[in-house]
Amino acid sequence: MTRSEIFESFRSEEFFQVVGNRRSIRRYKEIDIPQEDIAKILEAARLAPSTNNTQPWKYIVVKEQATKDLLTLVAGNQRFIADANTIIVAIADKQASCCPGNPSQWHILDTMIATEHVVLAATALGYGSCWIAMLDSRNTENVKEVKNALRIPEAASIVALVLLGVPDESPSPISRKTLEEIAFHEAYGLALGG
Ligand SMILES: Cc1cc2nc3c(=O)[nH]c(=O)nc-3n(C[C@H](O)[C@H](O)[C@H](O)COP(=O)(O)O)c2cc1C
Repeated sequence: MTRSEIFESFRSEEFFQVVGNRRSIRRYKEIDIPQEDIAKILEAARLAPSTNNTQPWKYIVVKEQATKDLLTLVAGNQRFIADANTIIVAIADKQASCCPGNPSQWHILDTMIATEHVVLAATALGYGSCWIAMLDSRNTENVKEVKNALRIPEAASIVALVLLGVPDESPSPISRKTLEEIAFHEAYGLALGG
């Protein structure tokens, strides 16, 4: 699948619709996401920027209920996790590196960026999603169990889960800071203006 095939009919206003329509979805219909859509969603991650183009991310697509139940347990037992049709496990590989003997310092950050591509691509295809942060720096026994079950190498960290499914809810509007609160002109605190 080439970049142009995916994006050939894409217009900028559609991008802003995707960004504006994305919400965290925590109720899903029992409808399967076809493999070709999963592949498109992960293609968006593949194209993400990364430090020195190290591309330190790996993704595991989970559909098995037993594995979803295990992931739910590790992620604070948030019950809706197990109801998602698909869980994408986002993994950052510290060994991915531009230079021999110099493991990545930025693997987690890079993987988070690529994972937001996953979320936006899912939104563009009409699916609901929800980030679940699962930094395995907590190093609990449960995380070890997940890493064993999914055969994730020692040097790789699970940085997040992304739940995917057909939405079965429309969340009410949620507040956001104003542009003036988060963006400045030339120096911190100076009004952006028009
Ligand atoms: C890194 C990250 C971790 C998150 N972890 C969770 C989580 O564990 N459980 C959950 O219900 N939502 C989680 N969320 C979703 C946030 O609660 C949500 O993005 C935020 O409240 C704004 O709502 P919106 O996504 O609908 O715009 C997470 C979001 C991010 C970006």
